[in-house]
Amino acid sequence: MAADPYAQSGEYLDIFSRDAWQALRAPIAAALRQAAPDQGPILDVGAGTGLGTSIVAETLPTASVLAVEPSPILRAVLLSRLAASESLRPRVTVVASGIEDWRPPSRLGGVLAINMLGHLSPQRRRQLWQELRARLAPSAPLIMNLQPPAEVADVPATVFATVTIGGHTYEGSGEARPASDGTVTWTMRYRTYAASGTTERDLVVAYPWHVISRTELLDELAGAGFSAAVGELDVVVAVPGI
Ligand SMILES: C[S@@+](CC[C@H](N)C(=O)[O-])C[C@H]1O[C@@H](n2cnc3c(N)ncnc32)[C@H](O)[C@@H]1O
Repeated sequence: MAADPYAQSGEYLDIFSRDAWQALRAPIAAALRQAAPDQGPILDVGAGTGLGTSIVAETLPTASVLAVEPSPILRAVLLSRLAASESLRPRVTVVASGIEDWRPPSRLGGVLAINMLGHLSPQRRRQLWQELRARLAPSAPLIMNLQPPAEVADVPATVFATVTIGGHTYEGSGEARPASDGTVTWTMRYRTYAASGTTERDLVVAYPWHVISRTELLDELAGAGFSAAVGELDVVVAVPGI
């Protein structure tokens, strides 16, 4: 697995993802209702700090969950979230690995892969679709989302979240520039402001992101034997075809 893109910025991922997850909750919970937790665990690929993992566990109160997360800093937040919850602790197992270095169990009751597809190369994605197609229970969903940019293009600098905690305000912004082989380079900036407005900290990190359009993703999934549709907030739900 390549260097951890969250090694420094992982400190901020949970606080900047909360609002987005408030919006994602409804469409993802709706898609999870097709899951088959009696037939196998639910896999959360790139679980991050566990914001989606918690929704899986709340929506499917009998499910076991496998949360695959390669980043140590994000796993620390994930484990802390799990340890703090009587409901999550016995049901969620954390796998300290990239998805490509781990073999899923032979049967899965559903899969979540949210806000993470761009970390996988086209070849890795196609391998993953094949592996999941062979393991997903009939009608069980593979739930993903599309994220910008949909083509290799500039994305101008945009502030995506501002959160105040105590006397500090945290601001996250990002911009993307075309790079090679179907990727963009996202340059993310995380600034911490004191109440006076002075900048206390200023972190800039850059990482590659594999661009995938709606058509490409749907074609890949169809090629792997899934029937897929794009819904609210670009959430993609794929089920094994007959
Ligand atoms: C933007 S975060 C999203 C985290 C979480 N799914 C969420 O939506 O809050 C992307 C996640 O993908 C994970 N990731 C990156 N490469 C991965 C890989 N090869 N296998 C599994 N997860 C990976 C990162 O460590 C990170 O947790």
